[in-house]
Amino acid sequence: MSLEKEILKRRTFGIISHPDAGKTTLTEKLLLFGGAIQEAGAVKNNKIKKGATSDFMEIERQRGISVATSVLAFIYKDKKINILDTPGHKDFAEDTFRTLTAVDSVIVVIDVAKGVEEQTEKLVEVCRMRKIPIIVFINKLDREGKDAFDLLDEVEQKLKLTVTPLSFPIGMGYDFKGIYNIWEKNINLFSGDSRKNIEDTIAISDLSSPELDTLIGSKPAEKLREEIELTSEVYPEFNREDYLKGDLQPVFFGSALNNFGVRELLDCFIEIAPSPRPKESDTRLVNPSEKTLSGFVFKIHANMDPKHRDRLAFIKIVSGTFERNKAYHHMRLKKNLKFSSPNAFFAEKKEIVDISYAGDIVGLHDTGNFKIGDTLTEGELMNFKGIPSFSPEHFRYINNADPLKSKQLEKGIDQLMDEGVAQLFTLDMNGRKIIGTVGALQYEVIQYRLEHEYGAKCTYENFPAYKACWVKPTDPKNEEFAEFRRIKQKFLATDKYGKMVFLADSEFSIQMTKQKYPTVHLYYTSEID
Ligand code: G4P
Repeated sequence: MSLEKEILKRRTFGIISHPDAGKTTLTEKLLLFGGAIQEAGAVKNNKIKKGATSDFMEIERQRGISVATSVLAFIYKDKKINILDTPGHKDFAEDTFRTLTAVDSVIVVIDVAKGVEEQTEKLVEVCRMRKIPIIVFINKLDREGKDAFDLLDEVEQKLKLTVTPLSFPIGMGYDFKGIYNIWEKNINLFSGDSRKNIEDTIAISDLSSPELDTLIGSKPAEKLREEIELTSEVYPEFNREDYLKGDLQPVFFGSALNNFGVRELLDCFIEIAPSPRPKESDTRLVNPSEKTLSGFVFKIHANMDPKHRDRLAFIKIVSGTFERNKAYHHMRLKKNLKFSSPNAFFAEKKEIVDISYAGDIVGLHDTGNFKIGDTLTEGELMNFKGIPSFSPEHFRYINNADPLKSKQLEKGIDQLMDEGVAQLFTLDMNGRKIIGTVGALQYEVIQYRLEHEYGAKCTYENFPAYKACWVKPTDPKNEEFAEFRRIKQKFLATDKYGKMVFLADSEFSIQMTKQKYPTVHLYYTSEID
């Protein structure tokens, strides 16, 4: 098959949600449709159990399983679907943000009763900024929840989206009768029996037909007619171009647990969702159908087996094909590397493959060559942009608790930072190391892993910072920047890429600094180039 055809077959996407909205359940049902798994429960293991937030053993267990479930691929109606797993737990939000750089579209899951929740807002904001096409799935319609129109309003306002429903619920909770599929013009009746729901759609091309009254009863039929009329008046007609540009977001309703409305979602998804999209590099826009390989590392999993220092670097292929045993150019290290056992992912397994295509993810065994954000090419000198580092929310000094193991500690910290577990800052003033994280949970994970994987011990000490601001002066040689450096000396540090960071202790201090030194620009993310 031609390269072009292979690429057009691919749909690489992520499912995002606030924890508990039903992301795991939906992922699992999608895999069932693809015949990729035989039974429900297979993906569930990947989830951090509720109440286990302070239990790092649980995280270890989860980490072990999540290599296999990092990418879940299956074939459905001749399309190769790659689902990239995004951790729902807020302490791992940065991992999710990075994964979003490797998806071509997303599905957002929202709980019908809870509506738009905090984590969803944050994740959708990132998608919106990147113009990633979004489909919304409103889940748990078998339960009592908010009115469909109110929810659509909420999604528009809180997530700042322009929505158009492509399906509409008939009743809800106890009175949930089914879903009218606006996209396919048919009705799917809810029986509460997940096995039956897959087949049971009834074509209704004309909603005024008396058949509808027979199917769902006169009152609900009348209500549905009114509601569908209203949707056509209030919401724009679906237009794929607008969806692909990130300007219009179709909405589906259903119940993942009951496998209801999932097939409709998937069928529409494979038709409208984009195949791999072009990506901007620092020199040019790279098209997926170009013959030569390019790709970037968006995730690293390390030390799955503590006895072997094995790491798996996840590469999103942006263009061309990735072939086994062919030499590729590692941009940062300026050297060529060959990979004898690249892994591809299928369902919840990974296997060695000879060739992968743009849109796919390959897992490369690595002995320390890769960092998140690294670019591979066939020799062209370019780097993909856009792997962000966000300002951490927590900051602590890290101290060596076993002087005989300082080498191990250094190596451990270095590798964990490459993996993106947390961010390391070195204070300019005295060289002390500070670990910044998104959630307090990471400190436990780091301490545990340093000890178990590297034999090093550490302690922490609070560092009173509020945000890390990456610093970029208009003119590095001007007097204002020199003064900024002198006055803020105590708060200046260097990140692991050598960039200057101002560790501000309050919002007030950031505002004052901005006022006083207008030519010294401060950013909450390091994606400023
Ligand atoms: P997450 O990955 O987004 O965190 O959510 P997950 O799929 O784990 O779902 C969270 C809870 O919501 C689970 O219940 C799940 O069974 C339930 N759920 C998912 N979809 C639906 C739905 O359509 N209807 C209803 N009523 N519930 C749904 P749990 O009790 O927390 O877990 P479990 O004991 O079922 O594993």
